Amino acid sequence: MSRSLKGAMSTLLAAVLCGVTATAVAQVNAASTEAGRIGLGRAATAIEIAGWDIDVRPDGHGVRKGRGTVAQGQDLYDAKCASCHGTFGESNRYLSIAGGVKPDDLKTGRASALKSPDGLRTLGTKLNYATTLWDYINRAMPWTNPQSLTPDEVYALTAYVLHLNEIVPANFELSDQNLTKVQMPNRNGMTTDHGMLSVKGKPDVQGSSCMKDCVKEVKITSELPAFARNQHDNLAEQSRPLGPTRGIDTTIYDASRSAAVPARAAQAAAPALADPKALLAQKACTACHGLTNKVVGPGFNDVAARYRDKADAVSYLVKKIKSGGEGVWGAVPMPPQTALKDDDAHAIAKWIAGGAR
Ligand code: HEC
Ligand code: HEC
Repeated sequence: MSRSLKGAMSTLLAAVLCGVTATAVAQVNAASTEAGRIGLGRAATAIEIAGWDIDVRPDGHGVRKGRGTVAQGQDLYDAKCASCHGTFGESNRYLSIAGGVKPDDLKTGRASALKSPDGLRTLGTKLNYATTLWDYINRAMPWTNPQSLTPDEVYALTAYVLHLNEIVPANFELSDQNLTKVQMPNRNGMTTDHGMLSVKGKPDVQGSSCMKDCVKEVKITSELPAFARNQHDNLAEQSRPLGPTRGIDTTIYDASRSAAVPARAAQAAAPALADPKALLAQKACTACHGLTNKVVGPGFNDVAARYRDKADAVSYLVKKIKSGGEGVWGAVPMPPQTALKDDDAHAIAKWIAGGAR
């Protein structure tokens, strides 16, 4: 599994399962090579296995030595995380990592927000173990530079995120001594008694064969959006030679969609600015925006083409960059860039309005 794929696992749970699988694979490899049965490849070295074997589990498996306080976490968070997740983890529904926990939840161990359809679903209300949060931050964050944090930094950041969720007090220090003891608001709210994990469980989907008034033709009404197609490289090259399902060639799909970047209007010479392209990389905008291609958000050339005739394009773009929003390019929201200086936002907006070259 590639690094980018690891970073992009879509849920905390998936990230942990991925860790478990990696360990299991490494063990199987080592065992089968010892037995010499398959005769392919070579045994993984201890260092190679250690690189994959990073999962941290509720029973204490994999817990790394270290410590960090809420206050230390706040400094790190403001520098490395707030640009995407918001100063208080509030960001927007796609990237919010705090909120929804009620004081009573800590006593009952069942997050009340999950009982109402519009209750806030954040890691504070979902997770049953703090080890999962530690594992995820350690494994996948910051988004732009996963696995760059030291264990002490991960402890501090985990402590701060727990504090944002009102699970630990402001003077809390998290360490290898108390990580598995943290009482999460939803610790009693998880079940394995469903069709995914138990054959006797209730399946998510129940179907029956249609016997009358059946539809004549099946129409596909929704599919993976174009921007997500090639996020994890070409699926066709990654499919296993087992089972009936093959990956489709996501590069072909991608090319057909994104080749048509609209021509740009000629622009009057723009005045000298702080180098906007350097800013985009520095402020991690490029994690979600390509110059010509859509990543999570639109390519900057496409944004430029959209607003080239808009008289107040610069002020519109400054506002949108600073406060975020959704619905212009699709359902995925743009997180507010509260840490971005006004001058920088202005330089970027001007560069986009001038054609994004
Ligand atoms: C450039 C943007 C960006 C930065 C910077 C960033 N993240 Fe994230 N973070 C994301 C995205 C995008 C996701 C969702 C990933 C997914 O669902 O596959 C995410 C997911 C998470 C989650 C899981 C949320 C959930 O409910 O599943 C946690 C926890 C998290 N980030 C913590 C952090 C921490 C701590 C930092 C700083 C060290 C950080 N992030 C920095 C973009 C970012
Ligand atoms: C976590 C992903 C993410 C990050 C980081 C991010 N953006 Fe966005 N951006 C988006 C998405 C998604 C949209 C589309 C929002 C919409 O449809 O309204 C967007 C839209 C935009 C738009 C077009 C606004 C409009 O109304 O047409 C601009 C300009 C923009 N972003 C600039 C930036 C800049 C500058 C940065 C860095 C300082 C940045 N973005 C960081 C995801 C992101």
